[in-house]
Amino acid sequence: MSDFTNSFWPLFISAITLIGIFACAWLLWINNKTKVAKPTADNSTGHVWDEDLREMNNPLPRWWVWMFIITIVFALAYLVIYPGLGNHQGIFGWSQVGQYEAEVAKANAVTEPLYAKFLAMSPEEVADDAQAMAIGGRLFLNNCAQCHGSDARGSKGFPNLTDHDWLHGGEPDTIKATLVNGRNGIMPPMAAAVGNEEDVRNVAHYVLSLSNSQHEPSFAALGQEKFMVCAACHGADGKGNAMFGAPNLTDGIWLHGAGEKQIVAMINHGKTNQMPAQAGKLSEAQIHVLTAYVWGLSNKPAAQ
Ligand code: HEC
Ligand code: HEC
Repeated sequence: MSDFTNSFWPLFISAITLIGIFACAWLLWINNKTKVAKPTADNSTGHVWDEDLREMNNPLPRWWVWMFIITIVFALAYLVIYPGLGNHQGIFGWSQVGQYEAEVAKANAVTEPLYAKFLAMSPEEVADDAQAMAIGGRLFLNNCAQCHGSDARGSKGFPNLTDHDWLHGGEPDTIKATLVNGRNGIMPPMAAAVGNEEDVRNVAHYVLSLSNSQHEPSFAALGQEKFMVCAACHGADGKGNAMFGAPNLTDGIWLHGAGEKQIVAMINHGKTNQMPAQAGKLSEAQIHVLTAYVWGLSNKPAAQ
């Protein structure tokens, strides 16, 4: 409770809180003291509603008064023990953050030896450990599934992690580097380098021909030469290059959609695609387990 930038608001809030509590106590006291001015013979206050509904002149029930007093005492005690009054920290120094940190520390004490054990194992070994894979699966659902899907099969723009088609490489070390540092896939707009609209269409048909997708062979033949400008990243054979994260264009797997229209758009506008770095978010051991989990998705499908 110390997010205030000056001392006015804490005092203001404390004053309103205490005035509220003491006003309740005062109200109770006044009601117990004050007697009806002129007692009537039938012990009523003389107030009558709806023809025969009379207000009796009875004291407040004992149990009710005691409940009222207990709530007032409770409120005051609570405000002494816990943070609640302005900047007052509470006599035991309890805080939500402190409780959270204590719980995290307790959970870490349980998982630390486990993670230490996994860290000492190779990713391939970790992928064979059922307990590690259960942890990896939960980490994946919490941190990765929103982009790659809960089955890790990805969607448009988000790569499928269960197949053998890799942008940046599928060896455990490369996967780990992907997780630690993130990745930027940058395909620059290439229309200017390719030529006019027809040239772009022709290259697109050549790209389609690489995977034997539906294409016009005469266009593809014209586009082949222009593919030179693409080869720097995608390779002369179009099989891609993990160094640039340039995808294999020959396997019929399309990260950004299949067909002439998508490829022409790709050439004209390029694409920037980002895998966020996990180093600051997840611990080294968590990344190690996730590396094994992701590696296992395509190499040990049965274990998942
Ligand atoms: C905000 C969305 C997002 C989140 C969250 C995310 N990723 Fe990614 N990830 C991507 C994108 C986009 C790419 C493709 C990058 C590119 O095009 O080069 C990618 C690429 C990858 C790759 C490389 C795939 C290849 O073919 O080389 C791996 C491995 C990967 N992610 C694993 C993970 C794991 C494990 C997590 C969870 C810790 C995760 N990602 C969380 C968006 C995300
Ligand atoms: C500077 C390197 C570079 C050059 C040059 C380049 N590309 Fe790319 N291309 C990439 C990268 C990186 C990606 C992946 C973008 C991503 O991560 O989403 C990509 C993606 C693509 C895709 C989408 C593939 C899919 O799976 O959906 C197509 C199609 C493509 N490029 C075609 C071409 C063509 C045709 C040319 C030449 C006219 C070309 N690229 C030139 C780097 C390049």
